[in-house]
Amino acid sequence: MKNFISVSDLNEEDIYKLLIKAEYYRENDFSLAEQLFVANLFFEPSTRTKMSFTVAERKLGLEVLDFHSESSSVLKGETLYDTAKTFESIGANMLVIRHQSDDWSKELKNLSIPVINAGAGKADHPTQCMLDLLTIYQEYGTLDGLNIAIVGDIKHSRVARSNVCALQKLGAEVYLCAAPGFEDEELEVPYISLDQAVEICDVIMLLRIQHERHLHKAETSNYLDMYGLTKEREQRMKKHAIIMHPAPVNRGVEIDTDLVECSRSRIFKQMTNGVYVRMAIMMHLLEEWGTINENYFKEYQ
Ligand code: CP
Repeated sequence: MKNFISVSDLNEEDIYKLLIKAEYYRENDFSLAEQLFVANLFFEPSTRTKMSFTVAERKLGLEVLDFHSESSSVLKGETLYDTAKTFESIGANMLVIRHQSDDWSKELKNLSIPVINAGAGKADHPTQCMLDLLTIYQEYGTLDGLNIAIVGDIKHSRVARSNVCALQKLGAEVYLCAAPGFEDEELEVPYISLDQAVEICDVIMLLRIQHERHLHKAETSNYLDMYGLTKEREQRMKKHAIIMHPAPVNRGVEIDTDLVECSRSRIFKQMTNGVYVRMAIMMHLLEEWGTINENYFKEYQ
């Protein structure tokens, strides 16, 4: 794996190796001695992904090149490719990119530094997926055989697409729950109601309505009662089952606000795990490219 673009590029062994590496960074402090630069190129808004990459980079001792598309030469018409080549030319050792296009990575095949996908349109959000997998793995010690429901605006969700792919690869039984119009028939996964899902699932993974990807703003006044996780539905979840959400959360829409921080919720733990997973992914790529020496990692290999 030379770039981290899609979970569809990973096999089961790749995924578990990264999860174990992330656990290593959760338990151990580690900082590189040499000066290396990482550029965070975010062309879409982000709080969690951008900031957890920044924390992960600083924990690893990497120099962070921050970039704000709204005050950059993108406004003069510079393309993504030329922006990326610019950072490569001035000495960036790795690029982290979020962009509204589903397939922006295809433009960047000729770079000589690793690229990490921090969100590609509606198509893929592989680092979010990895932190979701880590959170479930910490809970159950495996993904195999778990019943997992992904609930919400499936049609517009890159998180849903990445997670369906990875969870099925790891042997989970995946279900989708969506309000009419939010289904995506291209995903080969059974649809069930949230009322069914709470009775059988080990993980209820909620998604927000992605208003920014809709042509017309969706009506949300009855959404919680009809399609969201109410306190009444939470009461019917299996005793050990957990609630997840990639956030940002629309409190009171897809989830009752009181459930966001309830004992079943792993929503903020997911964010914490994002730092460790991103450390693991960045270090893995720097090793793969020979930018750093593998001997740094003898302890857990
Ligand atoms: N979960 C997630 O991608 O959040 P941000 O959009 O804030 O990065």
